[in-house]
Amino acid sequence: MMDRDAGKALAAGAAVAEVTDGMLVGLGTGSTAAHVIRLLGARVAQGLRITAVATSRASAAQAEGVGIRVLDFADVPRVDLTIDGADQIDARLFAIKGAGGAMLREKVVAAASDRMVVIADRSKRVAAIGDAPVPVEILPFARAALLAALGEGAVLRMRDGAPYVTDNGNQIVDCRFDLADPAATAAWLDGIPGVLGHGLFLTEVDAAYIAADGVVSRLERATMSR
Ligand code: 5RP
Repeated sequence: MMDRDAGKALAAGAAVAEVTDGMLVGLGTGSTAAHVIRLLGARVAQGLRITAVATSRASAAQAEGVGIRVLDFADVPRVDLTIDGADQIDARLFAIKGAGGAMLREKVVAAASDRMVVIADRSKRVAAIGDAPVPVEILPFARAALLAALGEGAVLRMRDGAPYVTDNGNQIVDCRFDLADPAATAAWLDGIPGVLGHGLFLTEVDAAYIAADGVVSRLERATMSR
């Protein structure tokens, strides 16, 4: 099997080929998205003119480091194309995101994007999303109540002995859900006061590039559902 990182780079290259002069590009977060930023930086060095918004401080720093002009998303009403990784993706273009902790910003940027493309090596491609933890960003003020509400298997994400803190100053609970009906689970999460975001991406993804054994395949949403 091809090296996973090589697969990530290959999928990133396929998605970066969609970027054209003048675009405002949404930059994802994580090791796969880092390839996108690296490749875009190389194209910018060769004369590509783009601006970008980043879904995390880490991605913003990497992008600025390779010469990409990063705008404050607070000032940006629409994004042309967002390219991001995922923890799992299936043929319905349902994805679980957020192992890297950036899913809230990733979702608002995806929602503001004319097109959102997921890139992944084949380890992320599953028959149906489900057996990865679903990260839920919570208001720290409500931590205990939300841990109870999110049910068995809900675990507060920790780093260096303390609760993990997102770029938004919040905390993350990693949850195990039966995802037989992902839309029902997403709607339930969306309705819990104190839940600020979650890693179920059911309507945001327009296409996915998946790399396996040196070949990239593209999944494209068939109908305009967003
Ligand atoms: C961050 C994410 C990442 O895109 C996802 O976790 C995949 O990361 P990687 O490319 O490092 O495997 O959702 O919040």
